[in-house]
Amino acid sequence: MYVAQPIQWTEHGVVMLDQRRLPAEEITHTYTDYREVARAIREMVIRGAPAIGVAAAMGVALGVLHSTAKSTDELRLEFAQICEVLAKTRPTAVDLFWALERMKARFAEVSAAPADVQKIKQALVAEARQIHLEKKATDEAIGRFGAEFMPRDGQVMTQCNAGALATGGIGTALGVIRVAIEQGRKLHVLVPETRPYLQGARLTAWELHRGGIPLTLITDNMVGHFLKSGKVSAIVTGADRIAANGDTANKIGTYQIAVLAKENNVPFYIAAPVSTFDLSIPDGDHIPIEERAASEVTHLQGVRIAPDVPAAHPAFDVTPARYIAAIFTERGVARAPLTQSLRSLASEKAISTGTTSA
Ligand code: MRU
Repeated sequence: MYVAQPIQWTEHGVVMLDQRRLPAEEITHTYTDYREVARAIREMVIRGAPAIGVAAAMGVALGVLHSTAKSTDELRLEFAQICEVLAKTRPTAVDLFWALERMKARFAEVSAAPADVQKIKQALVAEARQIHLEKKATDEAIGRFGAEFMPRDGQVMTQCNAGALATGGIGTALGVIRVAIEQGRKLHVLVPETRPYLQGARLTAWELHRGGIPLTLITDNMVGHFLKSGKVSAIVTGADRIAANGDTANKIGTYQIAVLAKENNVPFYIAAPVSTFDLSIPDGDHIPIEERAASEVTHLQGVRIAPDVPAAHPAFDVTPARYIAAIFTERGVARAPLTQSLRSLASEKAISTGTTSA
């Protein structure tokens, strides 16, 4: 089954598929400067929480690799600056900060013992590639746990794009759907277009179609109608940040889907890696919500569709834990009471990966 490749580490630089141009064109860019990677994240060349984390890690690796620092101390100063630039790209997806922390920890580890600059560079490139590999393994495991909850034959709904494009693996929510189909379940996916950025219409529809997975594209305001029909067996979405009590930030529009799901007795599931947990915050009120440009609401692909009026664009909303039936992770399934369940999954050992490079 086709799996999109949103990001690759190559000898020429970091190659990204430009997701702003999909589905019309499949264009890639090769970046050799970490500042270009930061810009690509901010401007949505790459998006989706885990993929943003992989991009940030590769951005750090690029920055260090091309540094002209002559000593470890010089490199350490530059390293801090590189991490700061990448941290300022997008505020909601905690995977970004998780990946930067991993790179910082690796830098500290390798520079603790006497090490030349070259050795540090190699170690950080290897760490970024390892993070990418781990994301792939993580998605597969999430898929296996989540597939059990999918119907044998029926319709499932998603939101935004939580597929290969969003992770660099097989996807989280779409990974669950993919594995379920590979196991022989007959699923048909309802894809809300996900205004204003249209990740559903442009990316999920493209990805599922390329993978030969049956789908029907709907507009966001059709969600209630379809959930009320009794023909939707489950909903599965990704997540950008999960607070200690299970409140979950995901793409704007997810909250209203979860509420309508409860009203219509449709189970609402989240599929996300443990790196999406933010147990340092008690609940969803503490999740920073990215506010994107109003022009993304007033314009569609550069064409004005509204008069020149104020427009709001919170890019994410928070679904309270009480609407979430279960959270599929690579370490198992979290169920109510989520606080306890999330804490115990977070303390489990991380899954291991092979040694081949991503
Ligand atoms: O603004 P985006 O496109 O980065 O938002 C993406 C989402 O909200 C996804 O659902 C989430 O990151 C999970 S991706 C596996």
